[in-house]
Amino acid sequence: MKASKLLKEGKKTLQSVNDRFGWQGDEDVQAWDILAHVLGRQPDEDEKISKADEKAFNKLVKRRMTGEPLSFILGWVDFLDFRMTVKPGAFVPRLTSEFLAQQAIRRLRNRRSPVHVDLATGIGPVAIASARAVPKAKVFGVDISGKAVKQARENAEKLGAKNATFLKGDMFSPLPPDLKGKIDVVTIHPPYVPNGELDDLPIEIKKYEPKHTLTDNSKDGLELSRRVISEGREWVRPTGWVLIEIVAMEFKRIKPLLKEAGYTDISSTHGELKLTRVITGRVPG
Ligand SMILES: C[S@@+](CC[C@H](N)C(=O)[O-])C[C@H]1O[C@@H](n2cnc3c(N)ncnc32)[C@H](O)[C@@H]1O
Repeated sequence: MKASKLLKEGKKTLQSVNDRFGWQGDEDVQAWDILAHVLGRQPDEDEKISKADEKAFNKLVKRRMTGEPLSFILGWVDFLDFRMTVKPGAFVPRLTSEFLAQQAIRRLRNRRSPVHVDLATGIGPVAIASARAVPKAKVFGVDISGKAVKQARENAEKLGAKNATFLKGDMFSPLPPDLKGKIDVVTIHPPYVPNGELDDLPIEIKKYEPKHTLTDNSKDGLELSRRVISEGREWVRPTGWVLIEIVAMEFKRIKPLLKEAGYTDISSTHGELKLTRVITGRVPG
């Protein structure tokens, strides 16, 4: 079969699945990426696809139909200007977090010997992005999950992010104590789904991503945000920043917490995707 026909058929199936489950996604790109994965190179629309490759393509489309995230099928996800290896057992980086990384990078670039700590780092997209973009920065990524930290270390090595160190543990606790009061930027994209709302998530999230990556088990989903705000006062240097990626509607609940803890420059901004926001607070100088 010609590649263009196979892609068209694959796209149609993926579209019907997306419609059925209410998923979002560009079926054209998904079908193309799946075929490229099967061939091990970019397809040419006019080429003839062998029976074996056609079968392999349809098998992967079928896996996607069960709700398996495309990143697990392909084994990678793109983030800013690099490609990360993705394996089951950890949170799949989302495009929305590129804005969080960009906001951190912007603030790190103009500092002399910048220190960036990315809490709840997962497989490390935000930490690796800043380490690559600001080579003079010392970057730490922390996650409670050993599986996530292992994947983060492997990705950092593959991507040449030598200035990024990944530590397993709870929030600030595994960091070297002499970093207290010296961090320029703390970022966090916390698990923020309220514990009573897990069942409402799409199947590709709740079935495939571990529960601790989605919720902190609190009723309002804001426990880790509260902690980064209160514990951050001890770790972040004067004039340094705390950046929290969260859904837009939470700004009204997080703003007073930042205010009470004495942060200045409190704001809520969003990138092009507009699905999440980055809430900022600054430790007074
Ligand atoms: C929503 S995911 C974000 C991952 C990553 N920042 C990203 O954007 O791809 C939340 C992460 O928080 C981690 N986590 C949950 N509780 C934690 C804690 N107490 N301390 C550190 N990390 C935690 C989870 O293991 C998960 O990787």
